[in-house]
Amino acid sequence: MRVIAIDGPAGAGKSTVARQVSTATGLRYLDTGAMYRCVALAVQQTSTDVHDADAVGQIARDVAVVIERDAAKLNGVDVTTEIRSSEINGLVSIIAAHTPVRDAMREQQRRWIRDHNGGVVEGRDIGTVVFPDAILKVFLTASPEVRAERRVGQTGGEIQAVSASIAERDHLDSTRIDSPLKPSDDSVIVDSSDRTIEEVVAEIVAYFERVDRG
Ligand code: DC
Repeated sequence: MRVIAIDGPAGAGKSTVARQVSTATGLRYLDTGAMYRCVALAVQQTSTDVHDADAVGQIARDVAVVIERDAAKLNGVDVTTEIRSSEINGLVSIIAAHTPVRDAMREQQRRWIRDHNGGVVEGRDIGTVVFPDAILKVFLTASPEVRAERRVGQTGGEIQAVSASIAERDHLDSTRIDSPLKPSDDSVIVDSSDRTIEEVVAEIVAYFERVDRG
Protein backbone atom coordinates (compact mmCIF):
# COMPACT_ATOMS: atom_id res chain seq x y z
CA MET A 1 0.00 0.00 0.00
CA ARG A 2 1.23 3.49 -0.82
CA VAL A 3 1.02 5.09 2.61
CA ILE A 4 2.78 8.29 3.62
CA ALA A 5 2.75 8.44 7.44
CA ILE A 6 3.09 11.90 8.99
CA ASP A 7 3.41 11.86 12.78
CA GLY A 8 4.38 14.54 15.22
CA PRO A 9 3.28 16.70 18.15
CA ALA A 10 0.36 19.15 18.20
CA GLY A 11 0.88 22.31 16.18
CA ALA A 12 3.82 21.03 14.09
CA GLY A 13 1.84 21.75 10.90
CA LYS A 14 0.83 18.15 10.14
CA SER A 15 -2.65 18.86 8.76
CA THR A 16 -1.59 21.69 6.46
CA VAL A 17 1.43 19.76 5.23
CA ALA A 18 -0.49 16.47 4.84
CA ARG A 19 -3.26 18.17 2.83
CA GLN A 20 -0.76 19.68 0.42
CA VAL A 21 1.22 16.43 0.14
CA SER A 22 -2.09 14.73 -0.68
CA THR A 23 -2.81 17.25 -3.46
CA ALA A 24 0.71 16.90 -4.88
CA THR A 25 0.76 13.09 -4.85
CA GLY A 26 -2.88 12.30 -5.64
CA LEU A 27 -3.13 10.15 -2.51
CA ARG A 28 -6.18 10.74 -0.30
CA TYR A 29 -5.72 12.45 3.08
CA LEU A 30 -6.76 11.00 6.45
CA ASP A 31 -6.65 13.03 9.68
CA THR A 32 -6.63 10.36 12.41
CA GLY A 33 -6.67 13.00 15.17
CA ALA A 34 -10.17 13.96 13.97
CA MET A 35 -11.25 10.34 14.56
CA TYR A 36 -10.08 10.46 18.20
CA ARG A 37 -11.72 13.88 18.55
CA CYS A 38 -15.08 12.46 17.38
CA VAL A 39 -14.87 9.74 20.03
CA ALA A 40 -14.04 12.40 22.66
CA LEU A 41 -17.11 14.37 21.57
CA ALA A 42 -19.31 11.27 21.84
CA VAL A 43 -17.92 10.68 25.35
CA GLN A 44 -18.74 14.27 26.28
CA GLN A 45 -22.25 14.10 24.79
CA THR A 46 -23.08 10.93 26.72
CA SER A 47 -21.46 12.19 29.97
CA THR A 48 -19.33 9.04 30.09
CA ASP A 49 -16.44 8.89 32.56
CA VAL A 50 -13.37 9.69 30.41
CA HIS A 51 -11.19 7.49 32.64
CA ASP A 52 -13.37 4.39 32.17
CA ALA A 53 -11.39 2.63 29.40
CA ASP A 54 -14.00 -0.08 28.78
CA ALA A 55 -16.95 2.31 28.56
CA VAL A 56 -15.03 4.69 26.28
CA GLY A 57 -13.83 1.73 24.18
CA GLN A 58 -17.44 0.64 23.74
CA ILE A 59 -18.31 4.12 22.49
CA ALA A 60 -15.35 4.03 20.07
CA ARG A 61 -16.66 0.74 18.63
CA ASP A 62 -20.31 1.87 18.47
CA VAL A 63 -20.09 5.35 16.93
CA ALA A 64 -20.10 5.98 13.19
CA VAL A 65 -17.18 8.28 12.43
CA VAL A 66 -16.68 9.55 8.89
CA ILE A 67 -13.70 11.75 8.16
CA GLU A 68 -13.63 13.46 4.83
CA ARG A 69 -10.87 15.77 3.63
CA ASP A 70 -12.09 18.80 5.59
CA ALA A 71 -15.15 17.56 7.42
CA ALA A 72 -15.94 15.18 10.26
CA LYS A 73 -19.26 13.43 10.87
CA LEU A 74 -20.31 11.70 14.06
CA ASN A 75 -23.34 9.42 13.69
CA GLY A 76 -24.29 11.31 10.52
CA VAL A 77 -24.03 14.80 12.08
CA ASP A 78 -21.43 17.33 10.92
CA VAL A 79 -19.15 18.02 13.92
CA THR A 80 -16.23 19.67 12.10
CA THR A 81 -16.29 22.73 14.36
CA GLU A 82 -17.29 21.08 17.66
CA ILE A 83 -14.33 18.67 17.66
CA ARG A 84 -11.86 21.62 17.72
CA SER A 85 -13.18 23.15 20.97
CA SER A 86 -10.89 23.67 23.97
CA GLU A 87 -13.00 21.16 25.96
CA ILE A 88 -12.32 18.47 23.36
CA ASN A 89 -8.61 19.47 23.32
CA GLY A 90 -8.65 18.72 27.05
CA LEU A 91 -10.42 15.35 26.74
CA VAL A 92 -8.96 13.84 23.60
CA SER A 93 -5.52 12.84 24.87
CA ILE A 94 -7.12 11.15 27.90
CA ILE A 95 -9.45 8.98 25.83
CA ALA A 96 -6.74 8.34 23.19
CA ALA A 97 -4.58 6.65 25.85
CA HIS A 98 -7.10 3.80 26.35
CA THR A 99 -6.14 0.59 24.54
CA PRO A 100 -9.73 -0.39 23.60
CA VAL A 101 -10.11 3.01 21.91
CA ARG A 102 -6.82 2.66 20.04
CA ASP A 103 -7.70 -0.87 18.91
CA ALA A 104 -10.99 0.36 17.42
CA MET A 105 -9.37 3.39 15.72
CA ARG A 106 -6.49 1.35 14.25
CA GLU A 107 -8.90 -1.12 12.71
CA GLN A 108 -10.89 1.69 11.09
CA GLN A 109 -7.72 3.41 9.84
CA ARG A 110 -6.47 0.18 8.19
CA ARG A 111 -9.85 -0.39 6.58
CA TRP A 112 -9.85 3.20 5.27
CA ILE A 113 -6.45 2.65 3.65
CA ARG A 114 -7.58 -0.60 2.02
CA ASP A 115 -10.72 1.14 0.69
CA HIS A 116 -8.78 4.11 -0.68
CA ASN A 117 -5.74 2.25 -2.00
CA GLY A 118 -3.25 4.07 0.21
CA GLY A 119 -3.17 7.63 1.49
CA VAL A 120 -1.43 10.40 3.37
CA VAL A 121 -2.19 9.59 6.99
CA GLU A 122 -1.46 12.02 9.78
CA GLY A 123 -1.39 11.29 13.53
CA ARG A 124 0.83 10.15 16.38
CA ASP A 125 1.40 6.40 15.87
CA ILE A 126 0.91 5.98 12.13
CA GLY A 127 4.51 5.08 11.23
CA THR A 128 5.28 3.27 14.48
CA VAL A 129 2.16 1.13 14.93
CA VAL A 130 -0.68 1.53 12.44
CA PHE A 131 1.29 1.28 9.18
CA PRO A 132 4.78 0.04 10.05
CA ASP A 133 5.27 -0.81 6.34
CA ALA A 134 4.43 2.70 5.08
CA ILE A 135 6.64 3.56 2.11
CA LEU A 136 7.50 6.93 3.65
CA LYS A 137 7.45 7.93 7.32
CA VAL A 138 7.87 11.55 8.32
CA PHE A 139 8.16 12.83 11.88
CA LEU A 140 7.19 16.48 11.60
CA THR A 141 8.14 18.67 14.51
CA ALA A 142 8.76 22.31 15.50
CA SER A 143 9.89 24.13 18.63
CA PRO A 144 7.23 24.51 21.39
CA GLU A 145 7.23 28.31 20.92
CA VAL A 146 6.59 28.09 17.18
CA ARG A 147 3.88 25.46 17.65
CA ALA A 148 2.05 27.60 20.22
CA GLU A 149 2.27 30.70 18.01
CA ARG A 150 0.89 28.78 15.03
CA ARG A 151 -2.04 27.46 17.05
CA VAL A 152 -2.89 30.96 18.27
CA GLY A 153 -2.75 32.15 14.65
CA GLN A 154 -5.16 29.36 13.58
CA THR A 155 -7.64 29.20 16.40
CA GLY A 156 -7.04 32.34 18.51
CA GLY A 157 -6.63 32.27 22.26
CA GLU A 158 -4.05 33.52 24.67
CA ILE A 159 -0.47 32.36 24.07
CA GLN A 160 0.21 31.14 27.62
CA ALA A 161 -2.99 29.09 27.81
CA VAL A 162 -2.39 27.61 24.36
CA SER A 163 1.24 26.75 25.26
CA ALA A 164 0.11 25.05 28.45
CA SER A 165 -2.58 23.05 26.63
CA ILE A 166 -0.09 21.89 23.96
CA ALA A 167 2.49 20.95 26.61
CA GLU A 168 -0.12 18.93 28.51
CA ARG A 169 -1.19 17.11 25.35
CA ASP A 170 2.45 16.42 24.32
CA HIS A 171 3.07 14.97 27.76
CA LEU A 172 0.01 12.67 27.71
CA ASP A 173 0.61 11.59 24.09
CA SER A 174 4.29 10.78 24.55
CA THR A 175 4.14 9.08 27.96
CA ARG A 176 1.12 6.78 27.45
CA ILE A 177 1.81 3.03 27.49
CA ASP A 178 -0.05 2.16 24.28
CA SER A 179 1.67 3.55 21.15
CA PRO A 180 3.24 6.71 22.58
CA LEU A 181 4.18 9.55 20.28
CA LYS A 182 7.79 9.02 19.17
CA PRO A 183 9.64 8.97 15.87
CA SER A 184 9.90 5.55 14.30
CA ASP A 185 13.50 4.39 13.72
CA ASP A 186 13.07 4.58 9.96
CA SER A 187 11.35 7.99 9.81
CA VAL A 188 12.68 11.15 8.25
CA ILE A 189 12.68 13.90 10.90
CA VAL A 190 11.57 17.25 9.51
CA ASP A 191 11.76 20.35 11.73
CA SER A 192 9.38 22.99 10.36
CA SER A 193 10.32 25.73 12.86
CA ASP A 194 12.23 28.00 10.49
CA ARG A 195 10.78 26.82 7.22
CA THR A 196 7.76 27.62 5.09
CA ILE A 197 5.00 25.09 4.48
CA GLU A 198 5.97 25.06 0.79
CA GLU A 199 9.56 24.07 1.60
CA VAL A 200 8.43 21.29 3.93
CA VAL A 201 5.88 19.96 1.40
CA ALA A 202 8.46 20.03 -1.41
CA GLU A 203 10.92 18.06 0.71
CA ILE A 204 8.36 15.39 1.59
CA VAL A 205 7.10 15.09 -2.00
CA ALA A 206 10.70 14.69 -3.21
CA TYR A 207 11.28 11.87 -0.69
CA PHE A 208 8.03 10.24 -1.79
CA GLU A 209 8.90 10.40 -5.49
CA ARG A 210 12.24 8.77 -4.75
CA VAL A 211 10.76 5.85 -2.77
CA ASP A 212 7.71 5.49 -5.01
CA ARG A 213 9.90 4.98 -8.07
CA GLY A 214 11.58 2.19 -6.11
O1 DC B 1 -3.81 15.78 15.62
P1 DC B 1 -4.82 16.23 16.67
O2 DC B 1 -4.32 17.35 17.53
O3 DC B 1 -6.16 16.52 16.11
O4 DC B 1 -4.98 14.95 17.64
C1 DC B 1 -5.83 14.97 18.76
C2 DC B 1 -5.37 13.96 19.78
O5 DC B 1 -5.67 12.65 19.31
C3 DC B 1 -3.90 13.95 20.13
O6 DC B 1 -3.61 14.82 21.20
C4 DC B 1 -3.63 12.52 20.49
C5 DC B 1 -4.68 11.74 19.75
N1 DC B 1 -4.16 11.02 18.58
C6 DC B 1 -3.57 9.82 18.81
O7 DC B 1 -3.41 9.42 19.96
N2 DC B 1 -3.16 9.05 17.76
C7 DC B 1 -3.30 9.48 16.51
N3 DC B 1 -2.91 8.70 15.49
C8 DC B 1 -3.88 10.74 16.26
C9 DC B 1 -4.28 11.51 17.32
